[in-house]
Amino acid sequence: MEIIETHELTKEFNGLVAVDRVTFSVKRGEIFGFLGPNGAGKTTTINMLTTLLLPTSGRAYISGFDVVREAAQVRRRIGLVPQEIVLEGDLTARQNLLFHGMLYGMSRREVEEKIPELLELVGLRERADSKVRTFSGGMKRRLELVKVLVHEPEVIFLDEPTIGLDPQTRRKIWEYIQILNRERDVTIFLTTHYMEEADYLCDRICIIDHGKILDIDTPRKLKDRIGEGDIIEVEVSGKGERFAEMLAKECGCQIKKVEGNSITVSAKRGEYALKEIFSLADRLGVEVASISVREPTLEDVFIHYTGRSIREETTAGGSMMKYLARRLKH
Ligand SMILES: Nc1ncnc2c1ncn2[C@@H]1O[C@H](COP(=O)(O)OP(=O)(O)O)[C@@H](O)[C@H]1O
Ligand SMILES: [Mg+2]
Repeated sequence: MEIIETHELTKEFNGLVAVDRVTFSVKRGEIFGFLGPNGAGKTTTINMLTTLLLPTSGRAYISGFDVVREAAQVRRRIGLVPQEIVLEGDLTARQNLLFHGMLYGMSRREVEEKIPELLELVGLRERADSKVRTFSGGMKRRLELVKVLVHEPEVIFLDEPTIGLDPQTRRKIWEYIQILNRERDVTIFLTTHYMEEADYLCDRICIIDHGKILDIDTPRKLKDRIGEGDIIEVEVSGKGERFAEMLAKECGCQIKKVEGNSITVSAKRGEYALKEIFSLADRLGVEVASISVREPTLEDVFIHYTGRSIREETTAGGSMMKYLARRLKH
């Protein structure tokens, strides 16, 4: 049996189906992500898996224990980092960990022994005796990540672990999540509406919308599934139409969009197509004013299934590789 298994797990709130017959499993040691927009049913799923909410129907198991009938067994094996920070600001980092351990019936000595190495994991050892209210948002998040490790859970649940953090702090948290996963051997189930976060961190992703699973796979396979290859955007100094025509005919590119001298194509292997594009420009006697290659993102996958974006703002740049045309030429 896998560490997390659900079968047709469902939650209704007065007729609203928040989680709709969701079936999936998570392997021991994985970082598994639930990716979906606000209201998709991510938190509701976490709440059922962590025994905070009773399912309307269906089943869920943690390490083989039923989350409804064996809730106490489940609770001992899991840690939950909810979306809202729940640390005690007037206590120190050390006291917060102690407090958590004691809630789980551990002795003071047992917890004390773990504290240095746990704080070390997230770079907070020097701050062990500082009050938490003096911590930055990122430091609080880091403390929360190790707080739930005190009672040595097999799996931890992170609900939107980097929401509201600036991009730099977010990256840091990603690193720490990976460290916990690798060094402490803990399975991680996280939810997010940030596609870059899911893409960067997760071994496998479950894309969810309106309570329903749209697809589950590795980030790579999800992106390959929509069959786009690399996306190349090129701007030439002239002969745009002709250039596009030749690109399709001679370079095996698929034309996505031509607007004057700006051409968007997809190619199976973008880096090879680049060379062809420059040699074609030479032959046609035009300049390549700019060119960029990007991989399809999980956003493209979400759009593929729903026709909508995960969120309003786009977040270009993550996997975008901008090439300066001149640099490549020489
Ligand atoms: N306690 C509740 N009572 C009624 N509706 C709820 C409750 N909790 C969540 N919902 C609704 O269920 C849906 C899923 O919510 P949620 O699981 O919080 O989504 P997410 O975490 O993906 O943003 C939303 O439409 C939300 O309004
Ligand atoms: Mg939520």
